[in-house]
This record gives sequence, structure tokens and C-alpha cells, in this order.
Amino acid sequence: MPVEARVLREVCGHYPTGVAVITCGGAEGEEPVGVTVNSFTSLSLDPALVLFCVHRDSRALAAVQGVGAFAVNILASDQAGLCRAFARRDTADFAELPHGPGATGSPVLSDALAFLECRLHAVFPGGDHVIVVGEVIDLGLLREEQPLTFFRSAHPKLEVLG
Ligand SMILES: Cc1cc2nc3c(=O)[nH]c(=O)nc-3n(C[C@H](O)[C@H](O)[C@H](O)COP(=O)(O)O)c2cc1C
Repeated sequence: MPVEARVLREVCGHYPTGVAVITCGGAEGEEPVGVTVNSFTSLSLDPALVLFCVHRDSRALAAVQGVGAFAVNILASDQAGLCRAFARRDTADFAELPHGPGATGSPVLSDALAFLECRLHAVFPGGDHVIVVGEVIDLGLLREEQPLTFFRSAHPKLEVLG
């Protein structure tokens, strides 16, 4: 019997994660794009590689493949609104968001907890999603704040800082 998508989603939703917004500068004359993911993870220290998984029809994937770069913006606990905004087709407006261009031209969200700027390294198929691997070329910590979590479709508070 094939596993039902709803059940798979519910069971996997019991694995707590953080939340990140993947941003990409967009090609010449095009708007930047951003997409909310909880599939971000580190992959390799040498070389420095990270990955995220995204639907193969994602606009963000098309942009990342076109530009060859992206930024990972790790969200803080007060950014649940941004998490929702970048999970819609009609996403947040970058003009209204504090951000600056990173080393690859990808927008780095100024109020994120931390960022990693990546050059596209590889894209592997994964069913209806793909695994996007990036080589980290710049990174940094931006704020001392609690992280935004994701567990059972909610954002429970995680008090890790004093
Ligand atoms: C907390 C959270 C985590 C998400 N994680 C992922 C993810 O890892 N991969 C993915 O493809 N979509 C994920 N989504 C859904 C996308 O953000 C959403 O489908 C988005 O509209 C895709 O936009 P795009 O097609 O314009 O790129 C997540 C949504 C939320 C709210």
C-alpha cells in the first residue's frame, strides 16, 4: 500500500526543525525571490556544503538555477509573519523588507538570526522535490535572539538563550 501524503506529512511534522527563507537575487531586471523551507541542513564541512529540498516546480528553484546562487536566512522567533509570507505564491515584498546584497547578490534579510551565502553546487532529483546543494562562500550571525521553530504545524517557543 502506498503511504498517504497526509500521513507522511503528519508523521514528519513530529520532527522539530528551524525555519529558513531561501533568497535569490533574480536575473537582470527580475524581482528577487524567497521561499520558506524547513528542509535546510548542513551537509559537509570540507568543502563547506549545505542543502535544502524544494518542490521541483518552485519559482525559487528556477531562480536559483538561473542565477547559480542563493542565501539561507535562518529566522528568529519574532519572524513567524515572514515565514508565512514566503510560503505563499504572492510573497513578501522585498522593497518593504530590510535587506542588503550579499557576496553573490542574493538578498540577505537584515533581521534574520544568521545567514549563509551559497554558490549553487549541485541539484539532485528527489521525487516531486529536488535536493539543492550549495557551497558556502560567506556567512555570519546577525542577531542574538531565540530561533523560529516548526513542530506539528506550529512554532513552539524554544528558550535556548538566557
Ligand atoms: C514552515 C514551512 C516550511 C516549509 N518547508 C518547505 C520545504 O522545505 N520545501 C518546500 O518545497 N516547501 C516548503 N514549504 C512550502 C513553501 O514555502 C511554499 O510551497 C511556497 O509557496 C513555494 O513557493 P515557490 O513555488 O514560489 O518557490 C514550507 C512552508 C512552511 C510554512
